Amino acid sequence: MTTYRPEKADELIQTAKAMVAPGKGILAIDESNGTCNKRFEAVGIEPTEQKRREYRELLLTTPNLEEYVSGAILYDETIRQTTGDGKSFIDVMRERGQVVGIKVDTGAKPLAGSDGEKVTEGLDGLRERLAEYYEMGARFAKWRAVIAIDTAKGLPTRGCIEANAHALARYAALCQEAGVVPIIEPEVLIDGDHDITTCERVTEEELNEVFRQLYHQNVMLEGVILKTSMVISGKGASNRAGVDEVADRTVETLRRTVPAALGGVVFLSGGQGVEESTAHLNAMHVRHADRLPWPLTFSYARAIQGPALNYWKGEPGNVAEAQQRALTRAKYNGLASLGKYSE
Ligand code: 13P
Repeated sequence: MTTYRPEKADELIQTAKAMVAPGKGILAIDESNGTCNKRFEAVGIEPTEQKRREYRELLLTTPNLEEYVSGAILYDETIRQTTGDGKSFIDVMRERGQVVGIKVDTGAKPLAGSDGEKVTEGLDGLRERLAEYYEMGARFAKWRAVIAIDTAKGLPTRGCIEANAHALARYAALCQEAGVVPIIEPEVLIDGDHDITTCERVTEEELNEVFRQLYHQNVMLEGVILKTSMVISGKGASNRAGVDEVADRTVETLRRTVPAALGGVVFLSGGQGVEESTAHLNAMHVRHADRLPWPLTFSYARAIQGPALNYWKGEPGNVAEAQQRALTRAKYNGLASLGKYSE
């Protein structure tokens, strides 16, 4: 079936457009408690609910962030939290005209029968959870699948690619039924010493399978946002490709695999450096502006939050400067999404 329209099709299309409005991107602050605590411990911040709340308040109340950030992806704990003076984070965002997003997968778990691969879980009860989040005010969701490259072990396997793509498509269909725009995130991990050509081949195979499964689950592409990794050399590769090559190969791979009707494409930073993430996005727009059939922008977590987290250290006196640092990265990435970033 190619002409399927979910009941809330118009609303989904409007939400997707708002998420990738020109010059803006999406802030990811949906780290699970475990991941957030790990990041806190690395810079000496106490891993408590109170500190997680303070940190998310710092980010969400950053003055003028809404100029560059159309919406944020929250975690279940965060979407229920409030500022120190009692305003819900949902209201903070809505008053700034931002779209509220929620991570709904329950994590990547070991894939049975595989040598170290993972499959993302969270479909059980998802219809009910989406209805609750919609009622609360969430208008988009995120589901992240991880695809590891290990050429010595023959990874990724078809089994892993297909299982994850199938789950992404079932999640996306449930989201659209609920009036929630699905961000589908099949992340090809940067870990390893593979070259950029290997990453390109895996990304192409993965995206082809994801769009095949979306088609079979009657997902309306105009109301979907793809969150993808870039086509990039493995972190440990000996001769890592430069900025222009990453930009060129990423755009070519997306053009070959992502239908023009899709609502938008956003990138994760995936362990790239803060500057690198901005430079790559900018180069795609500078070099390929007239060849992009979809809005193409950012949905970074670490590449926006990193400098703010390092500065904050959990100290109330550091909040204003930490916010400035988050704003600076958001602004540079907003400029990069227009091909207007320069150092
Ligand atoms: P990074 O930008 O830190 O990779 O995080 C993006 C994200 O949302 C991962 O799921």
